Amino acid sequence: MSTTLPGPQPLQTHAFDTSIEQTVNSMIDDLITALPYQEQLTGAERRGIIARYTAVLEGNFIYWMTAALLSLHSEEARPILLDNLHEEVRDAHPAMLRRFAIAAHAFPTDSDALAIHKELTRVRLFLGRLSSVQSVLTMAFFEGYIQRFMPYLAALAAAQGSSEMEYTDVHGVCDIEHTAGLFRALAAEVAIDPLDESQNIFEGVDRLRELLEAIVFNRPDR
Ligand SMILES: [Fe+2]
Repeated sequence: MSTTLPGPQPLQTHAFDTSIEQTVNSMIDDLITALPYQEQLTGAERRGIIARYTAVLEGNFIYWMTAALLSLHSEEARPILLDNLHEEVRDAHPAMLRRFAIAAHAFPTDSDALAIHKELTRVRLFLGRLSSVQSVLTMAFFEGYIQRFMPYLAALAAAQGSSEMEYTDVHGVCDIEHTAGLFRALAAEVAIDPLDESQNIFEGVDRLRELLEAIVFNRPDR
């Protein structure tokens, strides 16, 4: 889905914020609904999803939240993203994710990393543009997706014989508050640095959605 911001609106309404959040939630619903039935996956397919997810998240989540932080214009949004980064670093979430992948016998190989290379690069280049509203919305979508994806990821790991679930336990809970915080940050940025009519507020979300689909479906010919 592609939606364009309805023109520059320095004084955004609550209705506008709500409709953006609803659109993001329905995009996440669509992605979660489209996940393959676990009973129909082979062991190699389960391993691949965990490995590609790890190849993307371990090294990029903190990087991309930092890119969104660097893009900010409003003082109000800054502490929200800093809190998020503080928790990621203090609690060593990348180490937690690596433990999760290793325990599920799904540590990413070069093939796993290359399977998501094209889509990953597009997200990196997009966030490198440091467009605040689009970047914060992308991360709000990301947090919301991660939280909803956790039970599925945990079930994949369990089917791989793992009982190491700290990563999925932590992210199924903490990301609810993170997502709400990022929507508050989005409202602050929209008020101070609105997009112009030529810009699609969902551009980064669309790039990230393509990456999440590559993680799940691994279709290099897409
Ligand atoms: Fe995290």
